[in-house]
Amino acid sequence: MLLVFLLLFLLGCIIAVVFCLNALVDTLRFGLPFVSTPRWAITWLRDNLQLTEHDVVYELGCGSAPLLVALGRKFPAAKFIGIEIQWWPFLLAKWRTRRLANVRIRSGDFLKEDLSSATVIYGFYITNFMPKVAKLLEQKLRAGVQIISFGFAIPDWTPTKEIANPKTGHGSKIQLYQK
Ligand SMILES: C[S@@+](CC[C@H](N)C(=O)[O-])C[C@H]1O[C@@H](n2cnc3c(N)ncnc32)[C@H](O)[C@@H]1O
Repeated sequence: MLLVFLLLFLLGCIIAVVFCLNALVDTLRFGLPFVSTPRWAITWLRDNLQLTEHDVVYELGCGSAPLLVALGRKFPAAKFIGIEIQWWPFLLAKWRTRRLANVRIRSGDFLKEDLSSATVIYGFYITNFMPKVAKLLEQKLRAGVQIISFGFAIPDWTPTKEIANPKTGHGSKIQLYQK
């Protein structure tokens, strides 16, 4: 009995270590860690965005898609596309959005996506990655697209609005931009 328990424990530890190493390698490979947008920001976006059947919302690097789940439920007429490069957040996102007919999750590199149909773009990145994001937005988006970045400013762009956590008033902000 003790031996079975020890073997199961060892197996669990091996799986956890392999999983962490995979996440670390992916973070180094793609230059971005997997961290979810905080709940307050998801709630603010869900309650304040106004989306219609004309909107096509892209989340570039959607992780496990907590925002797409919240928006997809609130705005059934709008269309949502999440793109994720890492396999395990992609599978989680697929599973979490399985009942939302208006949300599509794609596996792939958002830097290679055609974004010409987008009306809204959302992303949560890190400072080093922002110049790449700015270049992508400048090259691939048409004028009038709303861009929402959590936490990190887009270099050389001026936000139309910045929203801090309403409870604390400080920390990372939601930054709204218009192309
Ligand atoms: C900081 S996380 C944000 C996750 C999600 N947007 C959220 O706010 O909950 C950034 C995500 O972008 C993904 N990512 C990084 N580079 C990517 C690329 N070139 N194409 C698609 N996804 C990418 C990462 O795997 C990670 O899940």
